[in-house]
Amino acid sequence: MLPGMDCVEAIICPLCGEGLTEEGNSLVCPARHTFDISRSGYVNLLPSTRKLPETVGDSAEMLAARAQFLDAGYFDSLIDHLRGPAHHPGSGYVVDVGSGTGHYLAALGDGSACRFGIDISKTAARMGATRHKDITFLVADVHRGIPLASEGAGLLLDIFSPRNPAEFARVLHPEGTAVVVIPAPDHLAELIERFDLLQVQDDKEDIVLRAFEGHLSPRDREHITFEMTLTGDALRDLVGMGPSARHPSEDRTRALDEASAVTCTASFVVLSFGRARS
Ligand SMILES: C[S@@+](CC[C@H](N)C(=O)[O-])C[C@H]1O[C@@H](n2cnc3c(N)ncnc32)[C@H](O)[C@@H]1O
Repeated sequence: MLPGMDCVEAIICPLCGEGLTEEGNSLVCPARHTFDISRSGYVNLLPSTRKLPETVGDSAEMLAARAQFLDAGYFDSLIDHLRGPAHHPGSGYVVDVGSGTGHYLAALGDGSACRFGIDISKTAARMGATRHKDITFLVADVHRGIPLASEGAGLLLDIFSPRNPAEFARVLHPEGTAVVVIPAPDHLAELIERFDLLQVQDDKEDIVLRAFEGHLSPRDREHITFEMTLTGDALRDLVGMGPSARHPSEDRTRALDEASAVTCTASFVVLSFGRARS
């Protein structure tokens, strides 16, 4: 059974858009499109005919590194800062797009009885469902659509994850807020050259804001920075959970092995969006 019977009402069939209901160990729509609830409790809503490229979604190794790094509390300052913008208005569900291990969803949005984590990675959904029994995790591709009811999201989170502004606008409740977190250009600046990491584009924020034009209106912007001192495992986890992990190199592995304590700056931009006011 999924957490919160009533929450199922917010889930829609990815094939026909009709509501799903829980029947035994499955979710079923009126056209009898059927999606099994996995043993760990997540539901895979990706069309079964669709073979995804290996590089889509985070790998099991990246997710394990992310879980260890976040559990150790290194990004807790980000969560503390998000408590303001990520305020739930009291009505509607909470959805985290690209929810990963479910770490942020578990810490934020507990003002709602229904919380949904959406991720394209089955490993992420399994991890989330195993760790957070009171949250519903769905496997879906945000670029194809969010399998949730229109105008139902009191709070939408997107933390370092792909965005679909048209879908964000469709699911957002009229009073709801979409909170998008992106790395700032100086994120981990001290580590980029030393460990040959990918750098955040200078115009990333402009690109994101432009993508939302015509869909949702920007309401607020905050720049958050804090210092972290990382040793051994934490440094390897930080590198292992990020985009550079997809481009491993022997030089980087050696540099990480040789590094003692490293102090670096986390730097993020938090963008809040709402519906256009008429
Ligand atoms: C950088 S991680 C961030 C995870 C989480 N928000 C966090 O900060 O811990 C990006 C997440 O987006 C997921 N993702 C990538 N492409 C996606 C897509 N098209 N639809 C849904 N999720 C996607 C990945 O599997 C991964 O879990």
